Amino acid sequence: MSNVKFMSGENIPLEMHKVRMVQRVHLLPVETRLESMKEAGFNTFLLKNRDIFLDMLSDSGVNAMSENQYAAMMQADDSYAGSETFYRLENSIRDVFGLKYFLPAHQGRACENILAQVFVTPGSVALMNYHFTTTKAHITRMGGSIEEIIGDEGLKITSSAPFKGDMDIDKLNEAIKRIGSGNISFVRIEAGTNLVGGQPVSMKNMREVSKICRASGIKLVYDASLLADNLYFIKTREAEYKNTDLKEIMREIASFFDVVYFSARKLGCARGGGIITSDDEMFFKMRELVPLFEGFLTYGGMSVREMEALSVGLQETADLDIISQTPIFVEAMCEELIKKGVPVVTPPGGLGCHVDAREFCSHIENSQYPSGALAAALYIASGIRAMERGTLSEQRNEDGSEPIASMELIRLALPKRVYTLSQVKYTADRIAWLHKNRELIGGLEFVEEPKVLRFFFGRLKPIGGWAEKLAEQFRKDFGESL
Ligand SMILES: Cc1ncc(COP(=O)(O)O)c(C=O)c1O
Repeated sequence: MSNVKFMSGENIPLEMHKVRMVQRVHLLPVETRLESMKEAGFNTFLLKNRDIFLDMLSDSGVNAMSENQYAAMMQADDSYAGSETFYRLENSIRDVFGLKYFLPAHQGRACENILAQVFVTPGSVALMNYHFTTTKAHITRMGGSIEEIIGDEGLKITSSAPFKGDMDIDKLNEAIKRIGSGNISFVRIEAGTNLVGGQPVSMKNMREVSKICRASGIKLVYDASLLADNLYFIKTREAEYKNTDLKEIMREIASFFDVVYFSARKLGCARGGGIITSDDEMFFKMRELVPLFEGFLTYGGMSVREMEALSVGLQETADLDIISQTPIFVEAMCEELIKKGVPVVTPPGGLGCHVDAREFCSHIENSQYPSGALAAALYIASGIRAMERGTLSEQRNEDGSEPIASMELIRLALPKRVYTLSQVKYTADRIAWLHKNRELIGGLEFVEEPKVLRFFFGRLKPIGGWAEKLAEQFRKDFGESL
């Protein structure tokens, strides 16, 4: 935990938990990893878990749960309608967010589907600090578009700004004036802004945005999926909140918004999702869609066991020791990589460590997907699965051209309380080796390219025979080592 000092002065992320159940993992030889990558079409989403040593693709649905969450699962009340489990979850949510209504959904994007169906009309614009892949896909599917109004610091790879997820208030005012409040479906703030490197949003910024939206009659929506990390940064970087109880901070955040939604695969370390509001009209409009797409109003597609785990997980989000673990491990990984000369997003954010693939692979054209190539190369070099977060994660323009992403990153997600410090050091070691040998990495091209969310199941191939050469170099340098 961050307030434990070591005599040596070293900054060591000390765990405030002990491990009582473990999963065996396997590290395959480099030659087998190369074959697995080929089978996966050079897309890390298509790798099989059995072929992966450390899975840093995402934290989604893979955070470690606490003993209290597992214990709660045992009291799940199975019932199609009116289950006790639902009322326990509703109470937990009311307690944490202080809002009136809760609509359950099977995961975060299901909430986005409901929001988009209710509030997005053809030609309308949703303003947001930054898009998330599934959010944008649902909005554009309904004929709307998005505009990002993140501050300039948010798009810089290296910065000392503590809240790089903040919206630019001048740009927000300008956009409202230009588009007109009647044409804005909603303004959306994403906690722990995922695609710019898990960067937090400050209370000050949320308060200002809320004031502007209320004055202009525009709905304000909060994506709280990455709230846990964001809370840690508010507590540690926003002096005014240093001594404020985390639940109080959560309630204050919720009070700024008309609607809060979240992926419970992330927030609350369970699996599921939910929409929360105190607005009667919005609630009744959204409620109609829950039984249609999700399930009855007292489960919404979630299993009752997951709902029990979520009730407890949300309460545990108010425990600083519990929510600290990911951000302090991310910081440790970033520090290791910076020492080794690897370009990473700074300041370290939540969710995971983000490597700047554009700089790392500056010899690869943007149109040949440097982040995708780096993620594939990292798997071959280490058995570690990272996620491409760059141009490959974008959707092609209507005319077929590539929208080059503002950032080309690979994300090494650190699911909560899953990996150890030696595993973080192994990761940094293999990335440093790749950095030294980066000229060996080449670009990728699509072999099969889906129209929507292509990064999930598109298949690619390396341009030239670089993957084999990389594996050969690994064998030369590491000898018998896995
Ligand atoms: C910020 C954010 N919003 C929404 C989602 C979508 O949630 P889900 O994967 O549960 O559909 C995610 C998932 O990664 C996310 O990070």
